[in-house]
Amino acid sequence: MSERFQGRVAIVTGGGSGIGAAVAKRLAADGAKMVVVFGRRLSALQNTVDAIGADRCYAMSVDVSDEEQVKSAIAKVHEMFGTVDILANMAGIPGPSERVEDYTFADFKKVYSINVFGTFLTMKYCLPIMQAQHRGAIVNTCSCSGMRGYQLEIGYGSSKFAVMGMTMNAANENGGNGVRINCYAPGWVDTDMLDSILSQYEVTKGVHTEKNELKNGTMSRPSTPEEMANVVCFLLSDEASYVNGANFVCDGGKTLN
Ligand SMILES: NC(=O)c1ccc[n+]([C@@H]2O[C@H](COP(=O)([O-])OP(=O)(O)OC[C@H]3O[C@@H](n4cnc5c(N)ncnc54)[C@H](OP(=O)(O)O)[C@@H]3O)[C@@H](O)[C@H]2O)c1
Repeated sequence: MSERFQGRVAIVTGGGSGIGAAVAKRLAADGAKMVVVFGRRLSALQNTVDAIGADRCYAMSVDVSDEEQVKSAIAKVHEMFGTVDILANMAGIPGPSERVEDYTFADFKKVYSINVFGTFLTMKYCLPIMQAQHRGAIVNTCSCSGMRGYQLEIGYGSSKFAVMGMTMNAANENGGNGVRINCYAPGWVDTDMLDSILSQYEVTKGVHTEKNELKNGTMSRPSTPEEMANVVCFLLSDEASYVNGANFVCDGGKTLN
């Protein structure tokens, strides 16, 4: 572990589980002064606070799809801790596994409200703080679903294309003022989301799939959340000082074939 985030204040959305919890822990282990975790379930966020320690981690119940909640939560973090140096947008939902004609508009809008609008809103309200201090790093969560047109995920897949597009738009506007914005594209990651997708397969297709039987690319396993946190924290750190507007593919080779 290093001190590469020493003195920095970070916001991690989806910080109560999976990749977000692993990112929050890694930021703290690498010296962050305060890691603020956003999510809807306070009980899940509390597990992350317990793992890191209440002196370095603070939980806020925030639905990232709600503009007023995001706006006031980010203002509160700024007021309480004096700055926001890092935004790690890890919150996301998969939506159902359905063909386009069976996918309801309500489900489509729900996936967009979290994956797309949530990412937009947190960037919208963190960027003025980062621009004023001429320092900041943002990482958004794309997916290899946002690079290929896989079947049965019209909502999720297209929402991740949008995340990559927004990352590039925002990076282009901000590269000159000390604020970098990147995204990363995981393949399969062993988290609650993967368990819920596999149980959907079982219900809708009647097919039981083991995690290691998935199309895991060149690997015979999904990644761990910690392997994704390594990538996210690299992009958030000064080691990536010349990386802006990138989509860092870390899918174990899933998109090679
Ligand atoms: N697992 C994979 O195979 C995989 C692959 C590619 C990309 N990803 C992406 O990786 C990211 C993290 O997912 P994960 O795999 O770590 O799954 P996860 O454990 O289910 O984490 C998703 C997190 O998002 C939070 N969240 C969902 N809706 C929210 C909302 N409206 N407001 C605030 N927080 C919300 C959840 O907390 P609450 O429910 O408490 O709100 C949860 O902590 C997601 O963006 C996902 O799309 C995952």
